[in-house]
This record gives sequence, C-alpha cells and structure tokens, in this order.
Amino acid sequence: MGVKESFIRHQGQTTPYPLAIDVESAKGMYVTDKSGKVYLDMVAGVSACSIGHCHPSVVKAIQDQAEKYLHVMVYGEFIQDPQLDLAEKLASLLPKSLNSTYFVNSGVEAIEASMKLSKGYTGRSEIISCKNSYHGSTHGALSIMGTETYKRKYRPLLPDCGQIIYNDLSSIKRITEKTASVVIEPIQGASGFVTPKHDFLKAVRDRCDEVGALLIFDEIQTCFGRTGSLFGLDTYDVVPDILCMAKGMGGGMSIGSFTSSTEKMHSLRENPMLGHITTFGGHPIACAASLATLNELCNSQIIQEVDQKEALFRKLLIHPKIKEIRGKGLMLALEFEDADICRKLVHRGLEKGIIMFFFLFSQTAVRLSPPLIISEEEICKASQIILEILDE
Ligand SMILES: Cc1ncc(COP(=O)(O)O)c(C=O)c1O
Repeated sequence: MGVKESFIRHQGQTTPYPLAIDVESAKGMYVTDKSGKVYLDMVAGVSACSIGHCHPSVVKAIQDQAEKYLHVMVYGEFIQDPQLDLAEKLASLLPKSLNSTYFVNSGVEAIEASMKLSKGYTGRSEIISCKNSYHGSTHGALSIMGTETYKRKYRPLLPDCGQIIYNDLSSIKRITEKTASVVIEPIQGASGFVTPKHDFLKAVRDRCDEVGALLIFDEIQTCFGRTGSLFGLDTYDVVPDILCMAKGMGGGMSIGSFTSSTEKMHSLRENPMLGHITTFGGHPIACAASLATLNELCNSQIIQEVDQKEALFRKLLIHPKIKEIRGKGLMLALEFEDADICRKLVHRGLEKGIIMFFFLFSQTAVRLSPPLIISEEEICKASQIILEILDE
C-alpha cells in the first residue's frame, strides 16, 4: 500500500481531497517533503506558525522544558513556571481588566470554557454570535457557528443561541438583558477574512455594557501579531470581557487560552468548584513554547513590519482575476470570480512550490496567512508565482 493510500485508509480524514504533502521537515518559511521538494509556506498551519517553523528559540524552550518535567498534574493544582510566567507576561501586555489567564489545549476549548464562564458569571443562558462566524467544531462551538451547513447533521445543539449580522449595526438590538455573552471574531476567519466596519466592534461593546452581557473576543486567529499589533483588540481598540487565543500563540505547539479578570475567572472555582477542568491544558512544553514565541515577538520588529508586508502584497497582487484583497496584516484573502480559479491556484501553487489554502465558508477566496517572518523577497516570489498561475 502506498503512503497516500495508507494515509487515507488509516488516518481520520476531513475531506476527500487532502493536499497530502508528505512532510520530511519544516524550518522558517519552508516545508520540505520526502522527495526533497521545498515549499514556500503561505499558510503557516492555518495562521498557527506565527514566527515560522521550528524557530530556534521555540525549539530551545521546548528542549529545556523537556529536560525538567513534562505533565505533572491536572491543570490548576501545581505551580508550574512555564504556565505562570506566560500568564504574567500576558497580563503585563493586555489591558488591566484582562489579567487572569486559563490555559487549555486548543482554540475550541477556549471558546467552550468562555461560553461556560459567561453563563456562570451572569446567571444567563443566551449566547449570541455572528452569521458566518466560526468558533470551532465541538458541540458548544458548533451551536454558535454562523452557518447551518455544518450544523444540520449534528442537531440538536445548544438551545438559547442567537445571531446578529457581522457589520450590521441594526442587528445588535438582538443582544438583550437575557444575553450572557456575545462571541465575536474581530476579523471573521472562515468566511474569508472579513474585517469590521463602521465601528461595529465598538457598538457591540457598548450594547453589551448597556444590557450587562459579556463580550468574548475570539482572537484564535488574530492574536500574536497577525493583524499588525500583538492582539486584534489593539488593532480595533475595543476591550472584551473575555479574550480567547490559540493558533499563533503556540509557535507550533498546541495551546489555547482564555483571559478575563481575576474576579470573573474565580466564578469557575466556586459554587461548584471545578467549574472547568482539563488534564493537559497549559502543558508545560506548550506554555514554554508560547512564552518563547511571545518574547520573540516582543523583542523584535516582527510585528512592526506586518503592515508594510501587507502593503507589499497589496501592491504586487494586482491582476484582473483578483477581484478584491480582504483582511488585515498577514491574514489576507484573495477573492476571485469562482471556485475553479481558487482550486487551480492552490493546486498549481503546490506544483510550483508554494503552499496556499482554502476557506471553510468561502469557495471563491484563497488564503494567504504566512508566518509573520516572511521576507520582502519571499513576498515578491510568492506574488510572482501567483500572478504567473493566474496568467496561465
Ligand atoms: C476564529 C477561530 N475560532 C476558533 C477556532 C478553533 O480552534 P481550534 O481548531 O484550535 O480548536 C478556529 C480554528 O480555525 C478559528 O479560526
């Protein structure tokens, strides 16, 4: 049996058409397959490898921590330096009201736990999200997903979930005194990097304050520099009550987190205690990798350079077939006339040695979310290949 056949037969699959690059190694901006072919990575594991593959300081942090201890105890019982150091560093970089972080293993776990936190804290049950939002694939997150396509088969889901329309100010009256929380992505990811308009996020913040609902930012994709500032909340100058992060925060390791005030967070430890528990959440190796990533971002010009890298992409990627470039920073979506062009671009891109990818909800856009360390030369090279393919 060939490797691809075995992959399809023995490993759980998500689509009938996986890209199936047979990975040998990955370093910096590049992924190398078993045949020695090198790919320029314009996806970064779907916004996850923020400072590139196997960044030396991340690898060192992992190695150093692996020499000391791995898993020692379920989350929250023992004091473990990598967790506490990361929590303290996040508190020092976030607005004052976001000073207590709970670590989990993934983005969706952060969403699930923050939905629970908002219900427990407010004593209300309703969760509001946006049409076309994506917050993860488990039942709670699926319940607030903004499209019916992926929900239908799995109903019944959570009751008391309502929706507003992203960027539609008139819809926010749907948030009421019954609402425990509003979960919102500062930039909608799965629908193709749709950015907020008309002070929409500020208006949602104001409405939450008016009715006593908590605002939860899903920064699972926008965190750790992706939008040109450390957190999306800095880019849009709106402070949520709960901030969820994952993906880019791990530097390639699996970690997620939700951050709130100590006072709100304490509602998970009382009445009943153990309101949210996880065995492996905040694994010391993942936290060490995350802290190394954060330090690298804070001690370099990587984030400061994101805006000019975005501008270079926008300057170079001008083609009659590209209808629009959406997004902010290094989360950019190329919008085309139809899905065929997207499929061709991604598949021909692979042949020509560049990795691009699709969006979950948008069939007419292609994702560019490279590691933030991409150089100007690499932006020029990737753009040139994209334009060549579109000319074919
Ligand atoms: C905005 C957003 N929220 C939540 C998630 C779920 O995160 P994870 O896949 O780590 O569970 C994702 C993943 O793509 C995402 O993009």
